[in-house]
Amino acid sequence: MKNVIKKIVAMGLVLSMTGAVAACSKKKGMTVKKGTLTMATNAYFQPYEYYEDSKIVGIDAEIAEKIAEKLGLELKIVDVEFDSIIAGVQSDKYDIGMAGMTVTEDRLKTINFTDSYAKGVQAIIVKEGSEITDADTLLSGDYKVGVQQGTTGDIYLSSSPEDGGVGEDRVVRFSKGNDAVVALSTGKVDAVVIDNEPAKSFVAANSGLTILPTFYTEEDYAICVNKNNQELLDKINQALKELTEDGTIAAIIEKYIPSNS
Ligand code: ARG
Repeated sequence: MKNVIKKIVAMGLVLSMTGAVAACSKKKGMTVKKGTLTMATNAYFQPYEYYEDSKIVGIDAEIAEKIAEKLGLELKIVDVEFDSIIAGVQSDKYDIGMAGMTVTEDRLKTINFTDSYAKGVQAIIVKEGSEITDADTLLSGDYKVGVQQGTTGDIYLSSSPEDGGVGEDRVVRFSKGNDAVVALSTGKVDAVVIDNEPAKSFVAANSGLTILPTFYTEEDYAICVNKNNQELLDKINQALKELTEDGTIAAIIEKYIPSNS
């Protein structure tokens, strides 16, 4: 009799334990869709992510591919509005956000970031011969500045002059960086503030434009992950570490941003 009771108690324990494990893995499953790493990006940001025919290529796309490989997952890239990436990662619509995305204090309140894999800095694009010749002229004059909505360029410029911005009224927001550059070419804005590498490719692709540096400090690009998904964060950090140590990341960056050009 004693043995039977023992057995029943033990069975109950095993059952409740497997139940707990199942509930736990369901809630904290490493990826939203089993076997797939779904990455949200905004693919108009050369050389980090952009279209080559109908395929999304670039530094982020290639690094993500290597990470997925290490994790034994299939990478799926979805192209969305930049300012919807964080909310989508937060609601588990996407596993990661990778979009030349800068780590900021504010963003860290809602999502986690992996270790940084690249750096960026904000640049000012103006028309050649513009009376805007440096960041000070841009900030002090009554100029309209185009930015990509929700980016750090938008956040910095929209802040008040005391905080290094020009204030909301002078900022014109576009859903794609390229739309801001078109507005600059057609005279709808006087300058565009965007990350330096995409700025270079926009200037290369559109004649009559030139780049000025801003005095905003260097930014760290990292991958964002849901705060509840520590397992995925750890695994990506481990993959990033290995890909840094064996030179893979440096080679991918060098491929898109040759250091002697
Ligand atoms: N680094 C900037 C930020 O995090 C801009 C990123 C824009 N990325 C893109 N794929 N459009 O706000």
